Amino acid sequence: MPAITLPPDPRRPLRDRLFDLGVEFPCGGETGCGGCKVRVLAGEVAVTPLMRSVLTEEELAAGWRLGCEAASPGEVTLDVEQWSPVILSDNAPMPVESRPGKGAAIDLGTTTLVAQRVDLATGNVEAVETAINPQARHGADLMSRIRFEMERPGVLRALIHEVLSLMLDRLAPEEGFEEILICGNTAMHHLCCGFDVSPLAAVPFASPNLRSAEVM
Ligand code: FES
Repeated sequence: MPAITLPPDPRRPLRDRLFDLGVEFPCGGETGCGGCKVRVLAGEVAVTPLMRSVLTEEELAAGWRLGCEAASPGEVTLDVEQWSPVILSDNAPMPVESRPGKGAAIDLGTTTLVAQRVDLATGNVEAVETAINPQARHGADLMSRIRFEMERPGVLRALIHEVLSLMLDRLAPEEGFEEILICGNTAMHHLCCGFDVSPLAAVPFASPNLRSAEVM
């Protein structure tokens, strides 16, 4: 889900600024349709009586608010539900060597990201987070991303680390993860690990970084 960060603006309520950005308010707050939901990732958006009547306690605790009633005195970072595309994930149990604890499995796609919390004793998928790969704003295809990375090294790595951290924070059990597994194509792998992508930009497209390595 794409996130937006809005600095404080004492002249315009947050609700109006969201509307200016294209967030739609289907009922204008009249019937409590819930079609304007946003999720607070950072900052404070006060809970109003309408929000209490429309949203569940669990949703409020998870940071969900109604955009049509949103107000905040400070900077906020929000997910906008209506901007979120449907991302499909296969939540079938995974083959595991049964052991205690929870693991995370991440599908690091060029366009979309799926993170699953897995019970390592049973292989059952317990929870899922999905997001658009934020690197896409710097190139929809792999070669554009590789070119961007060569021009501005590190930007794409920071972006993917930020969104994966958010997704893992939402999925993390109290005791933390025993193991995190990330799979992706070679370019996504290099951009996530911070490896030099220049070997991927020219024939024979062979990278020296395809074996095990320690990364910080
Ligand atoms: S627009 Fe319907 S509840 Fe906000």
